[in-house]
Amino acid sequence: MNKTILESIREKREFSQLPEKEIELAFEQFARRQACDEEKIRLTRELLRKVFSAFISKKLLSLKNKEPEWILRKHLSTRERMNVQRSSKHGQTEERLPYYEQIYKRIFNNLGKKISVIDLGAGINGFSYYFFNNLKLDVRYIAVEAVGQLVELMNFYFKKNKINGKAIHMSLFEKGKLKEIIKKENKPRIILLFKVIDALESIKKDYSKELISEIVPLADKIVISFATRSLGNRQKFRAKREWIVDFINKNFKVLDDFELGGERYIAFSK
Ligand SMILES: C[S@@+](CC[C@H](N)C(=O)[O-])C[C@H]1O[C@@H](n2cnc3c(N)ncnc32)[C@H](O)[C@@H]1O
Repeated sequence: MNKTILESIREKREFSQLPEKEIELAFEQFARRQACDEEKIRLTRELLRKVFSAFISKKLLSLKNKEPEWILRKHLSTRERMNVQRSSKHGQTEERLPYYEQIYKRIFNNLGKKISVIDLGAGINGFSYYFFNNLKLDVRYIAVEAVGQLVELMNFYFKKNKINGKAIHMSLFEKGKLKEIIKKENKPRIILLFKVIDALESIKKDYSKELISEIVPLADKIVISFATRSLGNRQKFRAKREWIVDFINKNFKVLDDFELGGERYIAFSK
């Protein structure tokens, strides 16, 4: 990808910190179109905005001194927030916060007290570290995240609270580098892919399958999650995700499969 195009996409503040690989792959989708560079740049930005801008809040860096629970509650994507408001009228909230402890307890059972958690497309999930303490787990936590602002925010929190955690700024499309990062961590290793499959698929179709197949041998357990209700529409849309469920069932050993707070979690190993 030509540097001028890359720089031009990154001129927009919200994309200034996205990894080059991410921008390159998004641009590739339009590279062969019969269109001028300006139009391709516009389309690339539109796609990146769809994938990332819900997670890039301009106010993020002023959140540094807030309590983790406050950040977890406030930092929902705009669409998620709208959904929570709408559904809470019906006495139902879709956020994960009330369920974290239950989810972690269920996911991290029977692997011992000392574990490595590698959280791919972590968002701000690093702020849920205190739930590990509540469960008396000794966790080494690695977050991998493409949005630089979120990485910075999590690392600030880890340092300030002397947490055994690190957030790494990179794209999940940098597969070689990602595998090296995973291999460096002590076993048992648990890899999380919470609500990130859609983002990967919209940049590169079938990439989730490729990624999962290559990281499965490196992990004792992988847990993926996805929303079971469509955003802005409370109807269930389970059927749409059957392809990933089929893929996991066919190729790996399913260890657990459950739904909590409008999110389905599937744990599996090789
Ligand atoms: C819907 S959020 C989920 C965040 C977190 N996993 C959770 O469930 O709380 C998706 C996250 O994945 C990140 N992401 C999307 N594509 C990515 C990629 N290719 N590499 C790294 N991070 C990515 C986004 O920036 C965003 O923070």
